[in-house]
Amino acid sequence: MIVPIRYIETLPGKAAHLFLFSDGNRYAVKCKNNFHGTRELVNEYVVARLGQLLNLPVVPFEIVTMTEKQIQQIPKKFSSHYQPGKQFASLFIDNCIGLAKKPPRPTINELNNPHILAGILVFDYWVHDADRTKSNILLKRHPDGQYDIHMIDHGKCFPGGYKWNAETLQKSKKFKKESIVHVWTVDMLNDLNIITSYIEKILALSDVSIEEVIQDIPVDWNVSNENKVALFKYLKERKKTLAESVYTFVKKYLN
Ligand SMILES: Nc1ncnc2c1ncn2[C@@H]1O[C@H](COP(=O)(O)OP(=O)(O)O)[C@@H](O)[C@H]1O
Ligand SMILES: [Mg+2]
Repeated sequence: MIVPIRYIETLPGKAAHLFLFSDGNRYAVKCKNNFHGTRELVNEYVVARLGQLLNLPVVPFEIVTMTEKQIQQIPKKFSSHYQPGKQFASLFIDNCIGLAKKPPRPTINELNNPHILAGILVFDYWVHDADRTKSNILLKRHPDGQYDIHMIDHGKCFPGGYKWNAETLQKSKKFKKESIVHVWTVDMLNDLNIITSYIEKILALSDVSIEEVIQDIPVDWNVSNENKVALFKYLKERKKTLAESVYTFVKKYLN
């Protein structure tokens, strides 16, 4: 188990704090009872686990335990309401950029795995990630000029986002704002079959593996049994409308 050694800085957005950990790596830590609420950690965790099941490039993460004393290393203006216990930590990926607001952007040939973008798009529709902004994918440029893509920040997933509950999950929500990352993805898409294959991959994900993820949510993140059941039901039900909503979006932007 890794433990935090030293606080380094607070990252843009003020909810993630960079720490050096005992394995020698830096992690961006989001803490219990932050200003978004502890649901942010639940969403980060559940969505990261589901993303891993689909081989999507979710940044490696750990659930870490932090004591009151370790939390106090974070400036009080951010941390005064934080609670000791389990926290969500994602491995800090160095030297990345987000997606540029306007072109020029990496071209399809400059991406090491461009298909993965279609996977992210379909996945975001499944988990209702309303926050795939230009800052929430990381592009890491290698010396050969090629880019890797990493996914971060799944705090605002599921209908209801930071405040989801059994009731909000039942409301079928459309995204208020289209994601610049999703539009960029479709703009580069040259084969609808890639989208279809990711839809099939999600549909094929077994109930048992989804249930396992939900059962593994740390107890001290306070998700009631009723809400766990509702989350499972949301993920299962959403599969039924996934293809239609993804294709509707894709057709709108396909060249
Ligand atoms: N694992 C990570 N690796 C690299 N940068 C990160 C990582 N996690 C967060 N960041 C940086 O910190 C910013 C804020 O983190 P994020 O998880 O997006 O929180 P918020 O909910 O505040 O948007 C990101 O836009 C990114 O620049
Ligand atoms: Mg973010």
